[in-house]
Amino acid sequence: MNWHTFRDSLRLSNEAEIHPHVPQESAESFQSIDTETTEIEYLDLLYGVVRAVKPKAILDTGAHKGYSAIAMGFATRDNSMSGCPSGQVTSVEKSLEYFGQAAEAVRHAGLSNYVKVRHGDTLTILRDEDGARRFDMVYFDSSRACRTAEFQYLLEKGSLVPRSILAFHDTSPLRKPKSERDRNVHSKYLRKVKDTAEICSEKLIFNLSRGLTIYRL
Ligand SMILES: C[S@@+](CC[C@H](N)C(=O)[O-])C[C@H]1O[C@@H](n2cnc3c(N)ncnc32)[C@H](O)[C@@H]1O
Repeated sequence: MNWHTFRDSLRLSNEAEIHPHVPQESAESFQSIDTETTEIEYLDLLYGVVRAVKPKAILDTGAHKGYSAIAMGFATRDNSMSGCPSGQVTSVEKSLEYFGQAAEAVRHAGLSNYVKVRHGDTLTILRDEDGARRFDMVYFDSSRACRTAEFQYLLEKGSLVPRSILAFHDTSPLRKPKSERDRNVHSKYLRKVKDTAEICSEKLIFNLSRGLTIYRL
């Protein structure tokens, strides 16, 4: 099995039918597994980024059912099969139910040597490790209220190697809020992701669908 055969086996829905969007986000041209999992187009992109950049230690915050970890895990495996020193994805999930589903999905995909799923809150796990581990790519996809705090913690602890790749999901500036609280959470999140750009050397911003922002530290 590889990323392409794995993704072809998934049952996908049209993004516009499962998530609120405005027309400018072109959500009807995107496909998703469910409302939480990253759109398939952005999973393809994460797969490609890992293949192109060859990161050794990837952190995935918010495993949910394991699909972003699996996309990056297949890319890590393919990198190692083409002679790159072996990399590893660490995926963290705070819900016990989703942690179990993600761990099983990773095992089923044959990626146990490349992806470790950990149960708990990302910040608590990082604090327990006290900066002992360094990452060269992070996909921030836990809750929007936590993601920039995770980034700040990693930065302050020196847990990000120079020129690390930082990918933040759900960065569409046009997002249709579900409530007033959602509007506030989203605008605070977008402001912090935008502020992060100031200390980054490269930026690639995708505004379609739920949006994805990729920086290089
Ligand atoms: C948007 S989903 C992640 C989707 C996944 N990255 C994918 O594309 O396959 C967010 C997940 O993060 C988890 N989560 C939320 N806050 C968290 C935290 N502080 N630490 C770890 N997991 C968290 C939620 O339980 C949920 O399953």
